[in-house]
Amino acid sequence: MLFTPTRDDAADLDLLPLQPVDPAFRADVLRGLSQEEKAIPARWFYDMRGSQLFEAITQVPEYYPTRTETALLHAHAAAVARRTGTDATVVEFGSGSSIKTRILLEAMPRATYVPIDICGEFLNEACDGLRRLFPHLGIVPVEANFMDPVRLPVRRKGQAMLGFFPGSTIGNMTAAAAVDLLRSMRETLGANAHLLIGIDRVKDSGRLVAAYDDAGGVTALFNLNLLQRINRELHGTIPMGEFRHVARWNEGASRVEMHLEARRAIQFEVAGQAFHMSGGETIHTENCHKYRPGEIRLLLAASGWDVLEHWTDEQQDFSLVLARAEADRQTA
Ligand code: AVI
Repeated sequence: MLFTPTRDDAADLDLLPLQPVDPAFRADVLRGLSQEEKAIPARWFYDMRGSQLFEAITQVPEYYPTRTETALLHAHAAAVARRTGTDATVVEFGSGSSIKTRILLEAMPRATYVPIDICGEFLNEACDGLRRLFPHLGIVPVEANFMDPVRLPVRRKGQAMLGFFPGSTIGNMTAAAAVDLLRSMRETLGANAHLLIGIDRVKDSGRLVAAYDDAGGVTALFNLNLLQRINRELHGTIPMGEFRHVARWNEGASRVEMHLEARRAIQFEVAGQAFHMSGGETIHTENCHKYRPGEIRLLLAASGWDVLEHWTDEQQDFSLVLARAEADRQTA
């Protein structure tokens, strides 16, 4: 009898890729694994499972940024709305579950919401949740990588624009890339726009490392999920059990780094190419830069944003900054 696999059989037997291969993912992984110091860009963490695991990270006790920023938003959303008006268009860069946005939208009942996220499935789920909570809210989702210049689908003349970039996602890029991104946000949002951004601060390195290596192992699963994604989508044979999650503080670069470390010498294939790693060798998967208050002001100034408000919590762990697009001016 002829065996005709269903989609489920195919998944079980690993006969067919369930999703078409993303050529950019393939190119980044193959290039990253071929380098002397192996590295894969952190953006590839966020498939459906990676996005769910990231949401789980935000709930672990060691990961203070989410709850600290959430409290700051509760305390200052009304002040933001007073500056922008309650009918602004809120453009969120990398919207994820949009949970923090709810706080902002409650203070801006006539707002229009434009969430931008790379994971379409996750974006649609988040929008459905928001529609239930805010039935009258205009929502215009954009499935895109916010690191690339984005064309906004809505833009009414004279409409106040508020960019929202919470979570210290800016910390996942180098300072140079951060400046480029903040400048391109200024372009996207236009003259007179506001930007509300969350940025994590430098603090005791023990607390920083614990935030990226929680005792419950959720961050480890998040990091290791990248290998699973490679195996699934790029026909990889990476032996998952031979890797461990590592988080370390790099003082010179002022960042927490995440790596996947091979426990012993291993060989594997990805998309038909063979790779070798020695024991102790790592794949660098993420950088999480931390800033001091003065550096935050400089970063924003270098990107064409004037700081209007700089809020922090009692422990001074995290910064919530409201900035305004600097008026165009001639500089010497
Ligand atoms: C998305 N980003 C701001 C998180 C961070 O804290 O840098 C990603 C993360 N990686 C591990 N834990 C959290």
